Parts: sequence; C-alpha cells; structure tokens
Amino acid sequence: MEWTEDLSVGNKTIDGQHKELFVKINDLVLAINNSVCKYKIGDVIKFLDDYIVFHFGEEEKMMQKSSYPGYKAHKAQHEDFKRNFSALKHDLAKLDGGKKPGSYDLSVRTNQIVVDWILEHIAMVDKKLGEFLKPDSLN
Ligand SMILES: [Fe+2]
Repeated sequence: MEWTEDLSVGNKTIDGQHKELFVKINDLVLAINNSVCKYKIGDVIKFLDDYIVFHFGEEEKMMQKSSYPGYKAHKAQHEDFKRNFSALKHDLAKLDGGKKPGSYDLSVRTNQIVVDWILEHIAMVDKKLGEFLKPDSLN
C-alpha cells in the first residue's frame, strides 16, 4: 500500500502521522510475505497502541480547537477503531508476545483492519476534516 497525494488531507501534521502508519503497515506486509510476521506482529501492535492514542488525540484536539461540526461522528469512528484494536491486542496477549504460529492470522487481521481504516477513514473522514482545517493550516 503506497501513500499517494490523493490521500493527503492537506494538513502537514496529520499527513505526516498518516505516512508513519503506512511505513509500519508496509513493514508488516513485507514480513507476512516473507513468512517472518511472527517476529514482527508484536512490534506492530505495540506501535499501533501508542500511535492511536497520540494520533487520534492530535486530530481530536484540532477538531475541538476549530469547533469542527463533525467532531462527534469523527470521534465515534476513532472509538470504534480502538475497540477493534483492543481485540487484536487481546489476541496478541494470548499468543505470548506474538511468537507462536497463530500470529500469521493475527498479522493478516491486523493488516486488514488497518487497510480498511485507511480506505474508509483516512481517505474520507480525515479528508473532510482536512478540508475544514485548510485555511488555518497551510504551513
Ligand atoms: Fe481521524
């Protein structure tokens, strides 16, 4: 999956953080393809755990500061993602750090959840937010 300009939301901070997500998820895809994802999935889930707190927090701060009218609906999607992610985290814990064979399924599921997120949230919902913020964020 490649980050392309049409995924830009027009805000440098948000775009920069989205690009980080792409780097990480591409690492995971590579690890899946090379059959070494069991060594990688724990690290990816740890990254996502920190990332969603930080990145969603940043977006939510921007929405509040700018009195964004779509705040509630947007935040609800973040909460949904957190719930889906919790299930992955829970399953990782059962896999003893992701080093057991079942981590292949977990890796594929993690990849799927993030890819869906990119297509359904970043490309649409974050983009709308970026449009709204644009006049103030041409830096
Ligand atoms: Fe968002």
